[in-house]
Amino acid sequence: MDRRRFIVLGTAGSVAVLTGCGGGGGGGGGASMPGMASSPPPVIPPTIPLVTGLTKGQPLAELPRLANTSATAGAFEATLVAERTNVALLPDTTTEFWSYNSEVPGPLIDVFEGDTARIRLENRLPQETTVHWHGLPVPPEQDGNPMDPIAPGSSRTYEFTLPVGSAGTYWYHPHTHEHTAEQVFRGMAGLFIVRSRTDPVPAGIDEKLLVISDLRLASDGSIPANTAMDWQNGREGNYLLVNGQYQPTLGINPGQSQRWRILNATNSRYLRLSLDQHSFTLIGTDGGLLAAPVPGVAEILLAPAQRVEVIVTAGLTAGASATLRSLPYDRGSMGMGMMGSGASTIPLLSVRYSQSAVLPVAMPTALRPLAPLGAPVAYKHLVLSSGIGMGMMSAGGMMQFLIDGRSFDPTRVDLTSRVDQVEQWTVENRSSMDHPFHLHGTQFQVVSRARGGATIPEPTLAWRDVVNVAAFESVVFKVEQSQLGRRMYHCHILEHEDQGMMGVLEVLA
Ligand code: C2O
Ligand code: CU
Ligand code: CU
Repeated sequence: MDRRRFIVLGTAGSVAVLTGCGGGGGGGGGASMPGMASSPPPVIPPTIPLVTGLTKGQPLAELPRLANTSATAGAFEATLVAERTNVALLPDTTTEFWSYNSEVPGPLIDVFEGDTARIRLENRLPQETTVHWHGLPVPPEQDGNPMDPIAPGSSRTYEFTLPVGSAGTYWYHPHTHEHTAEQVFRGMAGLFIVRSRTDPVPAGIDEKLLVISDLRLASDGSIPANTAMDWQNGREGNYLLVNGQYQPTLGINPGQSQRWRILNATNSRYLRLSLDQHSFTLIGTDGGLLAAPVPGVAEILLAPAQRVEVIVTAGLTAGASATLRSLPYDRGSMGMGMMGSGASTIPLLSVRYSQSAVLPVAMPTALRPLAPLGAPVAYKHLVLSSGIGMGMMSAGGMMQFLIDGRSFDPTRVDLTSRVDQVEQWTVENRSSMDHPFHLHGTQFQVVSRARGGATIPEPTLAWRDVVNVAAFESVVFKVEQSQLGRRMYHCHILEHEDQGMMGVLEVLA
Protein backbone atom coordinates (compact mmCIF):
# COMPACT_ATOMS: atom_id res chain seq x y z
CA MET A 1 0.00 0.00 0.00
CA ASP A 2 1.28 3.44 -0.81
CA ARG A 3 1.45 5.33 2.44
CA ARG A 4 2.35 8.54 0.72
CA ARG A 5 -0.84 8.97 -1.23
CA PHE A 6 -1.49 12.29 0.40
CA ILE A 7 1.37 14.51 -0.39
CA VAL A 8 1.43 17.92 1.19
CA LEU A 9 1.47 20.84 -1.16
CA GLY A 10 5.19 21.09 -1.20
CA THR A 11 7.24 24.09 -2.05
CA ALA A 12 10.23 22.79 -3.88
CA GLY A 13 13.39 24.36 -2.64
CA SER A 14 11.93 25.45 0.63
CA VAL A 15 11.26 22.11 2.26
CA ALA A 16 14.21 20.69 4.08
CA VAL A 17 14.61 16.95 3.78
CA LEU A 18 15.40 15.74 7.24
CA THR A 19 17.90 12.98 6.95
CA GLY A 20 17.78 12.01 10.57
CA CYS A 21 20.71 11.14 12.74
CA GLY A 22 23.97 12.39 11.41
CA GLY A 23 22.20 14.43 8.80
CA GLY A 24 19.42 16.83 9.62
CA GLY A 25 19.25 19.64 12.02
CA GLY A 26 17.09 22.61 11.67
CA GLY A 27 17.92 26.18 11.42
CA GLY A 28 14.49 27.32 10.42
CA GLY A 29 13.33 29.08 13.53
CA GLY A 30 9.79 30.30 13.79
CA ALA A 31 6.83 28.07 13.01
CA SER A 32 6.46 28.21 16.74
CA MET A 33 2.71 28.33 17.11
CA PRO A 34 0.65 25.26 16.47
CA GLY A 35 -2.96 25.39 15.48
CA MET A 36 -4.96 27.02 12.78
CA ALA A 37 -4.48 30.56 13.98
CA SER A 38 -0.79 30.63 13.26
CA SER A 39 0.75 32.68 10.52
CA PRO A 40 2.00 30.93 7.38
CA PRO A 41 4.94 28.64 8.05
CA PRO A 42 8.25 30.32 7.31
CA VAL A 43 10.48 29.24 4.49
CA ILE A 44 13.09 26.79 5.70
CA PRO A 45 16.66 27.41 4.54
CA PRO A 46 17.67 24.68 2.09
CA THR A 47 20.97 24.06 3.78
CA ILE A 48 21.15 23.15 7.42
CA PRO A 49 24.42 23.29 9.29
CA LEU A 50 25.76 19.89 10.18
CA VAL A 51 26.84 19.20 13.69
CA THR A 52 30.11 17.45 14.23
CA GLY A 53 30.48 15.19 17.09
CA LEU A 54 29.11 14.72 20.53
CA THR A 55 31.40 12.55 22.59
CA LYS A 56 30.48 8.88 22.40
CA GLY A 57 31.49 5.79 24.32
CA GLN A 58 31.12 7.09 27.87
CA PRO A 59 29.97 4.55 30.45
CA LEU A 60 26.18 4.70 30.68
CA ALA A 61 25.21 7.11 33.46
CA GLU A 62 22.75 6.11 36.14
CA LEU A 63 19.78 8.44 36.21
CA PRO A 64 19.92 10.93 39.09
CA ARG A 65 17.18 10.18 41.62
CA LEU A 66 14.63 12.64 42.89
CA ALA A 67 15.28 12.54 46.64
CA ASN A 68 12.41 11.86 49.01
CA THR A 69 12.27 14.64 51.62
CA SER A 70 9.67 12.87 53.76
CA ALA A 71 10.70 10.66 56.68
CA THR A 72 7.23 9.12 56.91
CA ALA A 73 6.87 5.56 55.69
CA GLY A 74 4.73 5.39 52.57
CA ALA A 75 5.11 9.07 51.76
CA PHE A 76 7.15 10.44 48.88
CA GLU A 77 7.67 14.20 48.93
CA ALA A 78 9.84 16.19 46.59
CA THR A 79 10.08 19.32 44.48
CA LEU A 80 10.61 19.54 40.74
CA VAL A 81 11.80 22.87 39.44
CA ALA A 82 11.05 23.59 35.80
CA GLU A 83 14.01 25.70 34.78
CA ARG A 84 16.52 26.46 32.09
CA THR A 85 19.92 24.89 32.39
CA ASN A 86 23.10 25.00 30.34
CA VAL A 87 24.94 21.83 29.40
CA ALA A 88 28.34 21.64 27.72
CA LEU A 89 27.91 19.26 24.78
CA LEU A 90 29.98 20.80 21.98
CA PRO A 91 33.43 22.33 22.38
CA ASP A 92 33.53 26.02 23.32
CA THR A 93 29.79 26.40 23.78
CA THR A 94 26.92 25.34 25.97
CA THR A 95 23.43 24.24 25.09
CA GLU A 96 20.40 25.65 26.84
CA PHE A 97 17.91 22.96 27.83
CA TRP A 98 14.64 23.29 29.67
CA SER A 99 14.75 20.83 32.50
CA TYR A 100 13.49 19.47 35.75
CA ASN A 101 15.99 20.32 38.49
CA SER A 102 18.66 21.06 35.88
CA GLU A 103 18.83 17.38 34.91
CA VAL A 104 18.41 16.13 31.32
CA PRO A 105 16.59 13.75 31.35
CA GLY A 106 14.71 14.67 34.52
CA PRO A 107 15.46 12.91 37.80
CA LEU A 108 14.15 9.38 38.32
CA ILE A 109 11.10 9.11 40.55
CA ASP A 110 11.18 5.70 42.19
CA VAL A 111 8.35 4.72 44.52
CA PHE A 112 6.45 1.65 45.73
CA GLU A 113 2.85 0.64 45.23
CA GLY A 114 0.80 2.07 48.08
CA ASP A 115 2.98 5.16 48.43
CA THR A 116 1.42 8.61 48.44
CA ALA A 117 3.37 11.09 46.34
CA ARG A 118 3.30 14.83 47.03
CA ILE A 119 5.34 16.48 44.33
CA ARG A 120 5.61 20.24 44.08
CA LEU A 121 6.30 21.83 40.74
CA GLU A 122 7.90 25.22 40.74
CA ASN A 123 7.69 26.93 37.37
CA ARG A 124 10.73 29.07 36.62
CA LEU A 125 10.18 28.93 32.88
CA PRO A 126 8.96 31.96 30.91
CA GLN A 127 5.79 30.09 29.90
CA GLU A 128 3.07 27.94 31.43
CA THR A 129 3.75 24.33 32.18
CA THR A 130 2.14 21.32 33.86
CA VAL A 131 3.43 17.92 34.94
CA HIS A 132 1.59 14.98 33.49
CA TRP A 133 2.13 11.60 35.15
CA HIS A 134 2.01 9.59 31.96
CA GLY A 135 0.25 6.24 32.40
CA LEU A 136 -0.37 6.51 36.13
CA PRO A 137 -3.92 6.11 37.45
CA VAL A 138 -4.00 9.49 39.22
CA PRO A 139 -7.17 11.58 39.69
CA PRO A 140 -7.90 13.87 36.71
CA GLU A 141 -7.28 17.06 38.67
CA GLN A 142 -3.80 15.77 39.61
CA ASP A 143 -2.88 14.68 36.09
CA GLY A 144 -1.36 17.90 34.73
CA ASN A 145 -3.94 18.33 31.99
CA PRO A 146 -3.60 21.31 29.62
CA MET A 147 -6.66 22.82 31.32
CA ASP A 148 -4.71 23.16 34.60
CA PRO A 149 -1.65 25.25 33.74
CA ILE A 150 0.92 26.50 36.21
CA ALA A 151 1.82 30.09 35.37
CA PRO A 152 5.43 31.28 35.15
CA GLY A 153 6.68 32.08 38.64
CA SER A 154 4.05 29.99 40.40
CA SER A 155 3.94 26.50 41.80
CA ARG A 156 1.50 23.78 42.75
CA THR A 157 1.63 20.45 44.52
CA TYR A 158 0.39 17.29 42.86
CA GLU A 159 -0.80 14.58 45.21
CA PHE A 160 -1.79 11.01 44.43
CA THR A 161 -1.52 7.47 45.79
CA LEU A 162 -0.14 4.66 43.67
CA PRO A 163 -2.55 1.76 44.00
CA VAL A 164 -1.47 -1.83 44.53
CA GLY A 165 -1.26 -3.41 41.09
CA SER A 166 0.13 -0.28 39.44
CA ALA A 167 3.79 -1.36 39.46
CA GLY A 168 5.37 -0.49 36.14
CA THR A 169 7.50 1.91 34.15
CA TYR A 170 5.93 5.32 33.62
CA TRP A 171 7.17 8.82 32.95
CA TYR A 172 6.42 12.45 33.53
CA HIS A 173 6.47 15.35 31.10
CA PRO A 174 4.77 18.72 30.51
CA HIS A 175 1.30 18.79 28.95
CA THR A 176 0.85 22.48 28.27
CA HIS A 177 -1.69 23.66 25.75
CA GLU A 178 0.17 24.03 22.43
CA HIS A 179 3.63 23.89 24.05
CA THR A 180 4.08 20.26 25.03
CA ALA A 181 6.25 19.45 22.02
CA GLU A 182 8.64 22.31 22.64
CA GLN A 183 9.01 21.71 26.36
CA VAL A 184 9.73 18.03 25.78
CA PHE A 185 12.22 18.50 22.93
CA ARG A 186 14.03 21.08 25.03
CA GLY A 187 14.61 18.43 27.69
CA MET A 188 11.63 18.04 30.01
CA ALA A 189 10.90 14.36 30.59
CA GLY A 190 11.73 11.92 33.36
CA LEU A 191 11.21 8.28 34.27
CA PHE A 192 8.73 7.30 37.00
CA ILE A 193 8.99 3.75 38.33
CA VAL A 194 6.38 2.19 40.59
CA ARG A 195 7.70 -0.95 42.26
CA SER A 196 5.89 -3.90 43.72
CA ARG A 197 6.98 -5.27 47.09
CA THR A 198 6.49 -8.72 45.57
CA ASP A 199 8.34 -8.23 42.29
CA PRO A 200 8.80 -11.71 40.76
CA VAL A 201 12.00 -10.83 38.91
CA PRO A 202 14.89 -12.25 40.97
CA ALA A 203 16.96 -9.65 42.82
CA GLY A 204 20.08 -11.20 41.26
CA ILE A 205 19.04 -9.72 37.92
CA ASP A 206 20.53 -6.23 37.67
CA GLU A 207 18.27 -3.43 36.54
CA LYS A 208 19.30 -0.89 33.90
CA LEU A 209 17.21 2.13 32.99
CA LEU A 210 17.35 3.47 29.45
CA VAL A 211 15.63 6.79 28.70
CA ILE A 212 15.90 7.43 24.98
CA SER A 213 15.50 11.01 23.85
CA ASP A 214 16.01 12.82 20.58
CA LEU A 215 18.10 15.97 20.41
CA ARG A 216 18.43 18.35 17.52
CA LEU A 217 21.51 20.42 17.98
CA ALA A 218 22.54 23.23 15.66
CA SER A 219 26.23 23.85 15.06
CA ASP A 220 26.17 26.84 17.42
CA GLY A 221 25.04 24.52 20.21
CA SER A 222 21.46 25.75 20.29
CA ILE A 223 18.31 23.66 20.11
CA PRO A 224 16.40 25.11 17.16
CA ALA A 225 12.66 25.72 17.06
CA ASN A 226 10.38 23.41 15.11
CA THR A 227 10.23 23.84 11.38
CA ALA A 228 7.04 23.63 9.34
CA MET A 229 8.07 20.08 8.42
CA ASP A 230 8.43 19.19 12.09
CA TRP A 231 4.90 20.38 12.74
CA GLN A 232 3.69 18.00 10.04
CA ASN A 233 5.75 14.88 10.56
CA GLY A 234 6.76 15.30 14.16
CA ARG A 235 10.21 16.45 15.14
CA GLU A 236 13.20 14.18 14.84
CA GLY A 237 16.60 15.33 15.99
CA ASN A 238 20.12 14.56 14.85
CA TYR A 239 21.20 12.73 17.99
CA LEU A 240 19.44 9.93 19.79
CA LEU A 241 20.56 9.98 23.41
CA VAL A 242 20.38 7.35 26.12
CA ASN A 243 20.13 8.88 29.60
CA GLY A 244 21.27 12.13 28.00
CA GLN A 245 24.44 10.52 26.57
CA TYR A 246 25.41 9.89 22.98
CA GLN A 247 26.08 6.21 22.21
CA PRO A 248 27.24 5.29 25.71
CA THR A 249 28.54 1.86 26.72
CA LEU A 250 26.99 -0.59 29.13
CA GLY A 251 28.98 -3.36 30.80
CA ILE A 252 27.69 -6.91 31.15
CA ASN A 253 29.30 -10.12 32.42
CA PRO A 254 29.21 -13.26 30.27
CA GLY A 255 26.23 -15.32 31.46
CA GLN A 256 24.60 -12.37 33.22
CA SER A 257 20.97 -11.36 32.80
CA GLN A 258 19.93 -7.74 33.06
CA ARG A 259 16.47 -6.22 33.27
CA TRP A 260 16.22 -3.21 31.02
CA ARG A 261 13.40 -0.73 31.42
CA ILE A 262 13.30 1.34 28.23
CA LEU A 263 11.36 4.58 27.66
CA ASN A 264 10.87 6.24 24.31
CA ALA A 265 10.86 9.89 25.42
CA THR A 266 11.17 11.31 21.91
CA ASN A 267 8.60 13.63 20.36
CA SER A 268 8.01 11.47 17.32
CA ARG A 269 10.70 8.91 16.63
CA TYR A 270 9.85 5.25 16.26
CA LEU A 271 12.46 3.00 17.81
CA ARG A 272 12.71 -0.44 16.26
CA LEU A 273 15.10 -1.85 18.81
CA SER A 274 17.44 -4.72 18.16
CA LEU A 275 20.61 -5.88 19.89
CA ASP A 276 23.20 -7.58 17.64
CA GLN A 277 23.41 -11.36 18.16
CA HIS A 278 20.96 -11.26 21.07
CA SER A 279 17.25 -11.61 21.46
CA PHE A 280 15.14 -10.00 24.14
CA THR A 281 12.87 -11.71 26.63
CA LEU A 282 9.89 -9.38 26.84
CA ILE A 283 8.56 -9.20 30.40
CA GLY A 284 6.63 -5.94 30.58
CA THR A 285 4.93 -3.14 28.67
CA ASP A 286 3.65 0.35 29.59
CA GLY A 287 1.54 -0.78 32.53
CA GLY A 288 3.88 -3.36 34.04
CA LEU A 289 4.65 -7.04 33.80
CA LEU A 290 3.12 -9.57 31.43
CA ALA A 291 1.62 -12.79 32.76
CA ALA A 292 4.71 -14.70 31.63
CA PRO A 293 8.03 -13.88 29.94
CA VAL A 294 8.06 -13.99 26.14
CA PRO A 295 11.54 -15.21 25.11
CA GLY A 296 13.23 -14.96 21.73
CA VAL A 297 11.98 -11.52 20.69
CA ALA A 298 14.30 -10.33 17.93
CA GLU A 299 13.14 -6.73 17.80
CA ILE A 300 10.79 -4.39 19.60
CA LEU A 301 8.97 -1.47 18.05
CA LEU A 302 8.75 1.27 20.66
CA ALA A 303 6.51 4.10 19.49
CA PRO A 304 6.82 7.53 21.10
CA ALA A 305 5.88 7.44 24.82
CA GLN A 306 5.86 3.63 25.03
CA ARG A 307 7.88 1.65 27.54
CA VAL A 308 9.04 -1.97 27.71
CA GLU A 309 10.79 -4.17 30.20
CA VAL A 310 13.07 -6.81 28.73
CA ILE A 311 15.57 -9.33 30.03
CA VAL A 312 18.88 -9.33 28.16
CA THR A 313 21.06 -12.36 28.74
CA ALA A 314 24.74 -12.19 27.87
CA GLY A 315 25.25 -15.34 25.80
CA LEU A 316 28.42 -14.35 23.96
CA THR A 317 32.00 -14.88 25.07
CA ALA A 318 34.15 -12.74 27.33
CA GLY A 319 35.28 -9.54 25.65
CA ALA A 320 32.49 -9.58 23.08
CA SER A 321 30.44 -6.51 22.28
CA ALA A 322 27.11 -5.81 20.68
CA THR A 323 25.24 -2.69 19.67
CA LEU A 324 21.68 -1.77 20.55
CA ARG A 325 20.26 -0.18 17.43
CA SER A 326 17.13 1.34 16.08
CA LEU A 327 16.42 -0.29 12.70
CA PRO A 328 14.69 1.41 9.77
CA TYR A 329 10.95 1.81 10.19
CA ASP A 330 8.61 3.52 7.74
CA ARG A 331 6.03 5.43 9.76
CA GLY A 332 4.70 7.18 6.71
CA SER A 333 4.85 10.89 6.26
CA MET A 334 2.75 13.94 5.56
CA GLY A 335 5.57 15.63 3.77
CA MET A 336 7.88 15.07 0.88
CA GLY A 337 10.96 13.84 2.66
CA MET A 338 11.84 10.32 3.65
CA MET A 339 11.70 10.24 7.40
CA GLY A 340 14.96 9.78 9.23
CA SER A 341 13.77 6.83 11.24
CA GLY A 342 12.38 5.31 8.07
CA ALA A 343 15.68 5.25 6.29
CA SER A 344 18.50 4.72 8.73
CA THR A 345 19.85 2.29 11.27
CA ILE A 346 20.92 4.25 14.32
CA PRO A 347 23.29 2.94 16.98
CA LEU A 348 22.06 3.76 20.49
CA LEU A 349 24.23 1.95 22.98
CA SER A 350 27.19 -0.40 22.96
CA VAL A 351 27.08 -3.44 25.24
CA ARG A 352 30.56 -4.61 26.27
CA TYR A 353 31.22 -8.01 27.83
CA SER A 354 33.65 -8.21 30.73
CA GLN A 355 36.10 -11.10 31.19
CA SER A 356 34.43 -12.51 34.30
CA ALA A 357 31.63 -14.94 33.60
CA VAL A 358 28.83 -15.29 36.15
CA LEU A 359 26.33 -18.06 36.83
CA PRO A 360 23.01 -17.50 35.11
CA VAL A 361 19.99 -16.52 37.22
CA ALA A 362 16.80 -18.27 36.15
CA MET A 363 13.66 -16.28 35.46
CA PRO A 364 10.34 -17.48 36.89
CA THR A 365 7.95 -18.93 34.30
CA ALA A 366 5.02 -16.86 35.63
CA LEU A 367 5.22 -13.15 36.45
CA ARG A 368 1.79 -12.12 37.66
CA PRO A 369 -1.87 -12.89 37.13
CA LEU A 370 -3.23 -10.95 34.18
CA ALA A 371 -6.83 -11.50 33.14
CA PRO A 372 -8.51 -10.14 30.04
CA LEU A 373 -11.06 -7.42 30.74
CA GLY A 374 -14.63 -8.74 30.57
CA ALA A 375 -17.17 -8.43 27.81
CA PRO A 376 -17.61 -4.81 26.72
CA VAL A 377 -20.87 -3.05 27.52
CA ALA A 378 -20.17 0.00 25.37
CA TYR A 379 -18.37 0.60 22.10
CA LYS A 380 -16.55 3.59 20.64
CA HIS A 381 -15.11 4.20 17.20
CA LEU A 382 -12.58 7.00 16.78
CA VAL A 383 -11.15 8.23 13.49
CA LEU A 384 -7.71 9.78 13.19
CA SER A 385 -7.28 11.90 10.11
CA SER A 386 -5.33 14.73 8.65
CA GLY A 387 -5.88 17.13 5.85
CA ILE A 388 -4.91 20.51 4.62
CA GLY A 389 -6.46 23.23 6.74
CA MET A 390 -8.83 25.76 5.30
CA GLY A 391 -7.20 29.03 4.48
CA MET A 392 -3.76 27.65 5.06
CA MET A 393 -2.72 27.03 1.50
CA SER A 394 0.26 29.33 1.72
CA ALA A 395 3.91 28.32 1.82
CA GLY A 396 4.23 24.62 2.63
CA GLY A 397 0.55 24.10 3.36
CA MET A 398 -0.44 23.50 6.98
CA MET A 399 -1.87 20.16 7.93
CA GLN A 400 -4.67 19.70 10.37
CA PHE A 401 -4.51 16.71 12.65
CA LEU A 402 -7.94 15.66 13.77
CA ILE A 403 -9.80 13.10 15.85
CA ASP A 404 -13.33 12.48 14.63
CA GLY A 405 -12.95 15.45 12.31
CA ARG A 406 -12.32 17.90 15.14
CA SER A 407 -9.43 19.80 16.60
CA PHE A 408 -8.88 19.95 20.39
CA ASP A 409 -11.04 22.34 22.38
CA PRO A 410 -10.29 22.38 26.11
CA THR A 411 -13.85 23.47 26.90
CA ARG A 412 -15.55 20.67 24.93
CA VAL A 413 -16.29 17.12 26.05
CA ASP A 414 -15.88 14.84 23.05
CA LEU A 415 -16.71 11.45 24.52
CA THR A 416 -18.27 10.11 27.69
CA SER A 417 -17.80 6.82 29.50
CA ARG A 418 -19.35 5.29 32.60
CA VAL A 419 -17.04 4.58 35.49
CA ASP A 420 -16.09 0.91 36.01
CA GLN A 421 -17.61 -0.20 32.71
CA VAL A 422 -15.63 -2.19 30.19
CA GLU A 423 -15.66 -0.54 26.77
CA GLN A 424 -14.29 -1.59 23.44
CA TRP A 425 -12.63 1.15 21.42
CA THR A 426 -11.75 0.96 17.75
CA VAL A 427 -9.24 3.58 16.70
CA GLU A 428 -9.11 3.91 12.95
CA ASN A 429 -6.27 5.72 11.22
CA ARG A 430 -7.39 7.20 7.93
CA SER A 431 -4.14 9.03 7.32
CA SER A 432 -0.93 8.17 5.50
CA MET A 433 1.26 8.12 8.58
CA ASP A 434 1.34 6.22 11.86
CA HIS A 435 -0.11 7.86 14.98
CA PRO A 436 0.70 6.55 18.49
CA PHE A 437 -2.65 6.76 20.29
CA HIS A 438 -2.61 7.48 24.03
CA LEU A 439 -5.39 7.52 26.61
CA HIS A 440 -5.00 9.00 30.09
CA GLY A 441 -6.13 7.62 33.42
CA THR A 442 -5.83 3.90 32.96
CA GLN A 443 -4.25 1.09 30.98
CA PHE A 444 -5.93 -0.78 28.14
CA GLN A 445 -5.66 -4.21 26.52
CA VAL A 446 -5.20 -4.39 22.76
CA VAL A 447 -7.48 -7.05 21.23
CA SER A 448 -6.69 -6.93 17.52
CA ARG A 449 -5.45 -4.87 14.61
CA ALA A 450 -6.95 -4.71 11.15
CA ARG A 451 -5.22 -3.57 8.00
CA GLY A 452 -5.88 -4.14 4.33
CA GLY A 453 -8.79 -6.46 5.07
CA ALA A 454 -6.89 -8.76 7.45
CA THR A 455 -7.50 -8.84 11.20
CA ILE A 456 -4.63 -9.90 13.42
CA PRO A 457 -5.45 -10.83 17.00
CA GLU A 458 -2.99 -9.36 19.49
CA PRO A 459 -0.59 -12.20 20.37
CA THR A 460 0.19 -11.19 23.97
CA LEU A 461 -2.14 -9.89 26.66
CA ALA A 462 -0.56 -6.73 28.02
CA TRP A 463 -1.38 -3.43 29.73
CA ARG A 464 -0.66 -0.43 27.57
CA ASP A 465 -1.43 3.26 27.57
CA VAL A 466 -0.03 3.94 24.09
CA VAL A 467 -0.68 1.88 20.99
CA ASN A 468 0.66 2.56 17.56
CA VAL A 469 -2.07 2.86 14.96
CA ALA A 470 -0.20 2.42 11.70
CA ALA A 471 -1.23 4.29 8.54
CA PHE A 472 -4.65 3.03 7.36
CA GLU A 473 -4.83 0.54 10.24
CA SER A 474 -7.53 0.06 12.90
CA VAL A 475 -6.70 -1.02 16.43
CA VAL A 476 -9.25 -2.49 18.82
CA PHE A 477 -8.72 -2.37 22.58
CA LYS A 478 -10.70 -2.93 25.76
CA VAL A 479 -10.57 -0.40 28.55
CA GLU A 480 -12.19 0.50 31.84
CA GLN A 481 -11.88 3.84 33.67
CA SER A 482 -12.11 3.72 37.45
CA GLN A 483 -12.15 7.44 38.35
CA LEU A 484 -14.62 10.20 37.55
CA GLY A 485 -13.63 13.26 35.59
CA ARG A 486 -12.09 14.46 32.37
CA ARG A 487 -9.32 12.56 30.63
CA MET A 488 -7.26 13.38 27.59
CA TYR A 489 -6.75 11.09 24.63
CA HIS A 490 -4.40 12.06 21.83
CA CYS A 491 -1.71 11.26 19.36
CA HIS A 492 1.63 11.10 21.17
CA ILE A 493 3.52 12.64 18.29
CA LEU A 494 3.68 15.78 20.36
CA GLU A 495 3.53 18.13 17.40
CA HIS A 496 0.23 16.52 16.42
CA GLU A 497 -1.10 16.75 19.95
CA ASP A 498 -0.16 20.44 20.14
CA GLN A 499 -1.97 21.07 16.86
CA GLY A 500 -5.18 19.59 18.17
CA MET A 501 -5.05 15.82 17.61
CA MET A 502 -6.51 15.41 21.08
CA GLY A 503 -9.90 15.04 22.69
CA VAL A 504 -11.55 15.03 26.10
CA LEU A 505 -13.26 11.98 27.58
CA GLU A 506 -15.53 12.58 30.54
CA VAL A 507 -15.96 9.64 32.88
CA LEU A 508 -19.39 9.84 34.50
CA ALA A 509 -20.94 8.07 37.48
CU1 C2O B 1 2.37 11.38 27.68
CU2 C2O B 1 -1.26 13.07 27.38
O1 C2O B 1 0.57 12.30 27.49
CU1 CU C 1 -0.46 10.57 29.34
CU1 CU D 1 -0.03 11.81 15.08
